Amino acid sequence: MTESRRLRLGVLISGSGTNLQAIIDASEAGELDADVAIVISSHESARGLERAAKHGIDAIHVDRGKFDSAGAYNARLLEEFRARFVDVVVMAGYMRLLGKEVLDAYPNAVVNIHPALLPSFPGASGIKDAFEHGVKVTGVTVHFANEVFDEGPIIAQEAVRIEEGDTLATLEAKIHEVEHRIYPAALQAIAQKRVRIEGRRVHVAAGA
Ligand code: GRF
Repeated sequence: MTESRRLRLGVLISGSGTNLQAIIDASEAGELDADVAIVISSHESARGLERAAKHGIDAIHVDRGKFDSAGAYNARLLEEFRARFVDVVVMAGYMRLLGKEVLDAYPNAVVNIHPALLPSFPGASGIKDAFEHGVKVTGVTVHFANEVFDEGPIIAQEAVRIEEGDTLATLEAKIHEVEHRIYPAALQAIAQKRVRIEGRRVHVAAGA
């Protein structure tokens, strides 16, 4: 048996950080063989930064406005990840498109979560868009990120039914509950090297 090493995650956030919290909790509970090595937020006041700090995790705000170009900003993100030996970059409510600098440095090692069943309802308001469209089934997608928003190969999806009595608020709660379960599970599959990519298709072997 090969010796296993815990994966080091670099988490990108922009806001509340409930997915980050689910990842930290799974890691601390021994359900995820990975540690959050750094949290980087695109917003100064992100609640996720406080969550990380509470767990003794390095958490910083990198302000895009302080960089002349998107390239320089992304190069800085890469520098931070490299300095902490990050293996996998995890976008968790990160509201910016990640640059080529980071994507090229982390081939098939940048993941994102989207609160709809891609390729339906991509973009910044997937839950609301699905609700307003009137679909009866929506859900959550975890996928590898590429240079196009919400387009990369799909690792995991779970459906959520929109019932007659649902409001946007109840649907949001149902979606977040699924997110907080399937994101750590997808990361655990990566940590346990059960994930294999073949073109656009991602194969995930069953866990023990
Ligand atoms: C989640 O719904 C995620 O799918 C989307 O942004 C939201 C982030 O929530 N990309 P949080 O910051 O993890 O609480």
